[in-house]
Amino acid sequence: MPLVTTTEMFKKAYNGGYAIGAFNVNNMEIVQAITEAARELHSPVILQASAGARKYAQAAYLRHLVEAAVEATDNEIPIALHLDHGADFEVCKDCIDNGFTSVMIDGSSRPYEENIEVSRKVADYAHDNGVVVEAELGTLAGVEDDVNVAAETAQYTDPDQVVDFVNRTGVDSLAIAIGTSHGAYKFKPGTQPHIRLDILAEIVEKLPGFPIVLHGSSSVPQSHVKTINEYGGALQGAIGIPEDQLRDAARSAVCKINIDSDLRLAMTAGVREHLAKHPSHFDPRQYLADGRNNVKALVRDKIINVLGSENKA
Ligand code: G3H
Ligand code: 13P
Ligand code: ZN
Repeated sequence: MPLVTTTEMFKKAYNGGYAIGAFNVNNMEIVQAITEAARELHSPVILQASAGARKYAQAAYLRHLVEAAVEATDNEIPIALHLDHGADFEVCKDCIDNGFTSVMIDGSSRPYEENIEVSRKVADYAHDNGVVVEAELGTLAGVEDDVNVAAETAQYTDPDQVVDFVNRTGVDSLAIAIGTSHGAYKFKPGTQPHIRLDILAEIVEKLPGFPIVLHGSSSVPQSHVKTINEYGGALQGAIGIPEDQLRDAARSAVCKINIDSDLRLAMTAGVREHLAKHPSHFDPRQYLADGRNNVKALVRDKIINVLGSENKA
């Protein structure tokens, strides 16, 4: 099958009580690792590109890498190509016009009415072109595309706004803020890592059947943090979202779980360990292969133990 939208994926995920992994892609090794893992486990998957990824790799490379993955996996699994955190109508339009099957318009930092206006405009254009749209209500803390939102200024999604927002924008899925955040430092050391599943439950009650998205959902595996630190890294106090809480969210209305930081940790742990153990190596294929293996193992673990999307392709 060619690249697909997320419509069918989300319908099945909602009814089946699982979620689809949305993994950020920045280079060939990451695309290969994610799609090989998804294929082995017969799982649908979303590959997403941020503005930072498009700046680093160029949109054309990313699109062709993802199309190559569709070919290399023999069309065995549904793969969607998604724009992560589209800042305005123009960037969404550019992706819609260039083969993306899904876009996010992130108007979450704008005033409410402005967020509605831009999300509606993107939804209209996307739907006219067979593309689906994710919008965001509420703001996450953390670092995304060089914008650093302090934990104090982050705001949970207001359940009383969600019906009005979805009805007036016509978007296909909604990203909400319930205490997840971008990056590898999600909670202060010593505090109890905790997301607001009670707010999620309130939102689900108001929007029955509607797909919800969780950003900032890396769990920051301490095994990778330990490896990175053992081989010269300095990641003190990196803490992620507890996986049991992500599993609960996936069983509920959360149909898309965004993961980027964990891929970075897995890749970096593999490369650092390789270079530390083989100081004479200088062929990038040797150390990148170890990074890629780590990413693949991580994605397999997410599909089986967090998302529940194994054998749902
Ligand atoms: O939401 C943020 C993602 O982790 C993308 O990060 O903008 O550094 O590519 P990036
Ligand atoms: P993490 O930083 O938790 O991986 O979140 C990624 C994300 O939300 C991409 O949109
Ligand atoms: Zn995000």
